[in-house]
Amino acid sequence: MEFKSVDKIFSEMDKKKEISNIKNKLMFDIDYKPDKILIRNELKKVIDDFIDYAKLGIKQNIIIYGSRGSGKTLSAFLTAKGLNDNYSIPFYYVNAREIPTDIKIYGYVSGVKIRGLSLDEAREKFDKKLKGKALIIIDEADFLKGSDALYHITRYTGANLMLLTQKPLWYRNMEDESVKSSMQPDQVYFRDYNADEMREILLMRASEGLKHYDNGIISMLAANIVLNYKSDTRIGIKALEILGMADKWNEEYMKSAITRAYMEIEGETLNNLSDRDLIILSALMNELDTSKAYNLIRNMEDFSVKNISKSTFFSSVNNLQNLGLINLIRKKANRFYTMEAQILLSDESIVTEKLKSRLL
Ligand SMILES: Nc1ncnc2c1ncn2[C@@H]1O[C@H](COP(=O)(O)OP(=O)(O)OP(=O)(O)O)[C@@H](O)[C@H]1O
Ligand SMILES: [Mg+2]
Repeated sequence: MEFKSVDKIFSEMDKKKEISNIKNKLMFDIDYKPDKILIRNELKKVIDDFIDYAKLGIKQNIIIYGSRGSGKTLSAFLTAKGLNDNYSIPFYYVNAREIPTDIKIYGYVSGVKIRGLSLDEAREKFDKKLKGKALIIIDEADFLKGSDALYHITRYTGANLMLLTQKPLWYRNMEDESVKSSMQPDQVYFRDYNADEMREILLMRASEGLKHYDNGIISMLAANIVLNYKSDTRIGIKALEILGMADKWNEEYMKSAITRAYMEIEGETLNNLSDRDLIILSALMNELDTSKAYNLIRNMEDFSVKNISKSTFFSSVNNLQNLGLINLIRKKANRFYTMEAQILLSDESIVTEKLKSRLL
């Protein structure tokens, strides 16, 4: 216990707040959707299609491709909001990672419980909801299981579809020709941001979110993210937050902030992996050839992989590919084909560290 005047406590606590360099923490939330964004030229094509849809009733389905953190989700939201604000056209946002099946999509959009409903019944509810014009956004569309919803929306409803994916070959490799012929999408490619664009995006967050910052270090941060982290804006924004909180604007601290930001963001994906998937990922890092990695794995002592069947192994490898952690390439070895993994992590040491902390 201590005796103090309340005024004194006010002034002490007030000073503490002053020490913080953060003006608005929201600016560093990855899911925050700012009103003003850096407009890519590619976005104008999307807006043009939307205006045709709203004013002339011309449906034009759209697929947006782009790597991680290239602004697909943000752009989809803001253009959908624009469509709604200007033409009162409602939009529905579905993330296929969470809602992957046709029946779940019907249920989610129509807002009814699908338990006990057949696919036909769920589709009917969906149609009731979608009487007029509407936009349906399916994010992470490569996680979709089934194509009934795609076919139905494009062929039998007045709604416009917008699909987002990181996978440039997703649509091309789609086998269902009937879906393709009814979808006929405009395919829009979001190229990776260059260093100037990345700098502008980060400067915007800095000016809104921080009291002081250093333009030179932010330029270097932007260049580093573009060069070493595939222009992933999420890592840039997180690193900026770490730098801003410490309020240390030098090159060395900037580099360590990037490493920490990367660990935090990529760490999320790895934390959600099962032990088995994580062990398999680490085996693939040592042995890119999947058949050889399989032999390595099944002889391991860890119970989650010991004597693992080939099909379980490959379903795990597939999952790693879907999560964007690896890419599989067919390679010819002598007279046979094998699958080789390409590791997509910018910093592989994070896997070893996660594995160590799990197996302790
Ligand atoms: N043009 C931009 N202007 C302002 N902020 C941006 C811009 N592009 C991206 N961002 C910000 O970068 C972060 C990543 O963007 P977003 O989540 O839209 O990427 P994405 O392409 O959907 O990535 P993923 O493939 O991982 O889903 C978000 O915090 C977003 O607000
Ligand atoms: Mg996204």
